[in-house]
Amino acid sequence: MIELRDLHQDDMSVLYKWRQEPDVDRWLFERPPTGFSEHSEWFARFMGDPDREGWIILQDGVPCGFLSLIGVTSTQRRAAWKWYIGEADARGRGAGRAAQALGLDRAFAAKGLQKVWSEVHAANDAALKAQAAAGFRREGYLRRHSFKDGEFRDVVLLAILAEEWAARREGILRGLSASGLIAR
Ligand SMILES: CC(C)(COP(=O)(O)OP(=O)(O)OC[C@H]1O[C@@H](n2cnc3c(N)ncnc32)[C@H](O)[C@@H]1OP(=O)(O)O)[C@@H](O)C(=O)NCCC(=O)NCCS
Repeated sequence: MIELRDLHQDDMSVLYKWRQEPDVDRWLFERPPTGFSEHSEWFARFMGDPDREGWIILQDGVPCGFLSLIGVTSTQRRAAWKWYIGEADARGRGAGRAAQALGLDRAFAAKGLQKVWSEVHAANDAALKAQAAAGFRREGYLRRHSFKDGEFRDVVLLAILAEEWAARREGILRGLSASGLIAR
């Protein structure tokens, strides 16, 4: 069963561990922290910034990933979506899809956003597939937009509008509930 819970001060260490995972870092844009003190500074900035909202993804009550929105207080009412499943054995089993649905509900209903957008490396099949399934649409293709692991990479710009999520949410939540991935 997948749930989201608010980020706590105690989550700093697990986020550090996940952020070091090569299979997570490969797909993120920023470089990983060089050490725990850099990470703790980032974490303090995150926790103190009203414009950022983060949730821990729980699988059967155990933390398995991180989902965040950047820009929640903007007058544009749009925020950037960032996410990963940090625990390798939780990937590819529906945790991402379930967390995504719960996160989009929070973004649109609880936070009142009108748009959620995301940059995804063009080779990131798992993220592109998962996000397309929720209704994210391609808004752009940015050539050589990211420099990662010594190479320039193309990036896909994705976004979903509040009404697009509203049109799909019921069917998606029903499917996730029928698969036992979320409670309803
Ligand atoms: C992207 C990510 C969050 C998706 O979460 P997940 O739990 O692994 O994905 P799910 O099991 O919910 O699967 C979502 C879809 O992607 C597909 N998928 C999962 N892993 C895949 C892979 N390695 N390659 C291709 N497709 C994959 C699934 O088949 C599923 O499609 P389906 O519903 O049609 O079957 C997760 O894989 C992850 O954290 N990856 C590393 C970090 C990352 O890429 N973060 C996103 C940066 S934009």
